Amino acid sequence: MKNKVSKRLFNVPASPIRKLVPYAVAAKKRGIKVYHLNIGDPDIKTPTVMLKVLKSWSRNPVGYSQSQGEPEFIDSLVYYYHKVGAKFIKPEDVQVTTGGSEAIAMAFFAVCEPGEEIVVFEPFYTNYNSYAAVTGVKLVPVKTKGETGFHLPPAKEIEKKVTKKTRAILICNPNNPTGTVYTKKEMNTLFVIAKKHNLFFISDEVYREFVYDGKKHFSILSYMKRMPEKTILLDSMSKRYSLCGARLGMLVSKNRDVMAGVLRIGQGRLSSGLIDQLMAAKLTKVEKKYFREVHREYQKRRDVLYAGLKKIPEVFLEKPEGAFYTIARLPVKDAEHFCQWLLTDFRLNNETVMIAPAAGFYATPGLGKNEVRIAYVLNTRDLAKAIEILKQALVKYRGE
Ligand SMILES: Cc1ncc(COP(=O)(O)O)c(C=O)c1O
Repeated sequence: MKNKVSKRLFNVPASPIRKLVPYAVAAKKRGIKVYHLNIGDPDIKTPTVMLKVLKSWSRNPVGYSQSQGEPEFIDSLVYYYHKVGAKFIKPEDVQVTTGGSEAIAMAFFAVCEPGEEIVVFEPFYTNYNSYAAVTGVKLVPVKTKGETGFHLPPAKEIEKKVTKKTRAILICNPNNPTGTVYTKKEMNTLFVIAKKHNLFFISDEVYREFVYDGKKHFSILSYMKRMPEKTILLDSMSKRYSLCGARLGMLVSKNRDVMAGVLRIGQGRLSSGLIDQLMAAKLTKVEKKYFREVHREYQKRRDVLYAGLKKIPEVFLEKPEGAFYTIARLPVKDAEHFCQWLLTDFRLNNETVMIAPAAGFYATPGLGKNEVRIAYVLNTRDLAKAIEILKQALVKYRGE
């Protein structure tokens, strides 16, 4: 048939984070200011030591880097992992990826044949769906609930989802979209289940530093020595150093077959960006103060968002513990329609807000229909304005 494209292509879902973008663009064209709480693209500054590399760039031509990653960048990552306590990480355990996004795709390729399964906890990072569709992996969701802060259900509920086709358990910790930070007990539970059923234990920790109220983060790195063949860390520079546009991530594992395989995929796409990596390699020079300030700022934003949303009648959410997102339940039937309406029909003093409908963060049809995901990536003044807009919008929307 002429112009035929693959079925797989149609199975790749539109991202709920980005699919309303045309409506936001149209609103802006009409002169409306749009507060973007739909995407985790922070307004925090990239460390100056990194930008200096760009400003003083003199290498000409700008060549490829190595497929595993630029050695200077890999060394800086090893330094970072040692600093966070994982002294056993060696350069050969790290594959540099083009964003944490590519690390997700590589991990799915690495552990599953098409049709095999990965257990995830819904709501989950929506782009897992995209990569599952691309790689032919089936994501099997375990439901978590807002009322329990989206913490994990008991082990037996999780084990019910393990079948002959299950190859891995995937967790995102701290979690996007829920803001949940899993306890040591929860991580132990997943470790025990993975071990018992001989599954990979994969942890996406791109928000590792963003944990609030003095809570502790329990990383997969602390399980890696106990299960070296079956643990994979997915990581990214995007959020940690406000480097979203640099497109750099990492896949870290002690499993030599996994590492050799992902390197071959890496060779297929030649390399990640050389300039990006040399800029990011300056992470060794980023002062502790940078993290302290960024952390303080996000916790402040979290507090403003939580307090503001709690005051809106019939909005439900638990206090997010980490990352910079929350899932809020709204008093609307169809959150996607509401999110679109915010952009097409509503304005308060010529301003509106863009948020992401949450249904796309679930695998089970029908779930999340009255929920939205909000990213608190704006300064507290703008955040407070955005919350006020949301409050007024809900009154108008429900009255219409
Ligand atoms: C949980 C999670 N994993 C991975 C990524 C991928 O990030 P990047 O490709 O920018 O490194 C994101 C981005 O928002 C994320 O939220």
